[in-house]
Amino acid sequence: MTLVLRDKASLRAWRAKVTEGTRLGFVPTMGALHEGHMSLMARAREAADLVIASIFVNPLQFGPNEDLSRYPRPIEADIDKLEAAGVDALFLPSVEDMYPQGASTLVEETLVSGPLCGAVRPGHFRGVTTVVLKLFNLVQPHVAVFGQKDAQQCAVIERMVRDLDVPVEILRGPIVREADGLALSSRNVYLSAEDRAAAPLLHKSLEAVAEAYAAGEHDTEKLAQIGLSVLARSERIKAQYWEVRDPESLGAIATVGMRGALLAVAAYLGTTRLIDNLVIGPEG
Ligand code: PAJ
Repeated sequence: MTLVLRDKASLRAWRAKVTEGTRLGFVPTMGALHEGHMSLMARAREAADLVIASIFVNPLQFGPNEDLSRYPRPIEADIDKLEAAGVDALFLPSVEDMYPQGASTLVEETLVSGPLCGAVRPGHFRGVTTVVLKLFNLVQPHVAVFGQKDAQQCAVIERMVRDLDVPVEILRGPIVREADGLALSSRNVYLSAEDRAAAPLLHKSLEAVAEAYAAGEHDTEKLAQIGLSVLARSERIKAQYWEVRDPESLGAIATVGMRGALLAVAAYLGTTRLIDNLVIGPEG
């Protein structure tokens, strides 16, 4: 049975009963669970004795013109999936419980949060780090699992944990994709049939650039142009960014060197914003 903990007080009472020596694994989510999320639950299950997930659509990480109000919330189906996966507990707090009136403290990572999604979604990562640190303080997990799907989010959280001495181990789970390459996302349900058909071009653009790199092109500007040219095969896709970055700091690089690179793309299909990425090693 997945125990559903609907407020901070019941979570704290549950946490207090976790015995010393029991390794607690944690997977934070915003719900609308799919196979990508469930792969992280399985990873947590391998790494820990007890697994807790959270579902909280965090208003602090959505911009004023983003999809907070229409974000999917199929809570009954989500609980069924957690049950089936043998997740021990679910933390399902309300917005009022997480952000009591008058809350005035924010957590901000100031380097890795800057480029890519940070540049086009001001305040987004500050919302993520604030809620994730709160969740870590409440759940006090030994290990927490995040998806490589949000590579920048992983990098930002790893920095925060290091910089603020948070006693938790961070694991990254690989990107789970549809058969045609589209990365699973809770936002894929917004796509029209035509947009859904065009969406795998994001992954195709990453693969095309990885191939060009393997064939000897190491200039990041030229690699990004190749990525953009693949997206341009569909008029439905409006690229937001296509970038080749240092895999850890996410800093700008002129050529891909010994450290390899993170290939990162964000694009709109209609009003739906999708992201995807691929890490290329030093040897392609
Ligand atoms: P959410 O978008 O629900 O994602 C929860 C976790 O699932 C994240 O770590 C994300 O990277 C991972 N994930 C999503 N799609 C995936 C896929 N196709 N393959 C593998 N993992 C995937 O990310 C958030 O929520 C929030 O920002 C959160 C961390 C919960 C803070 O509010």
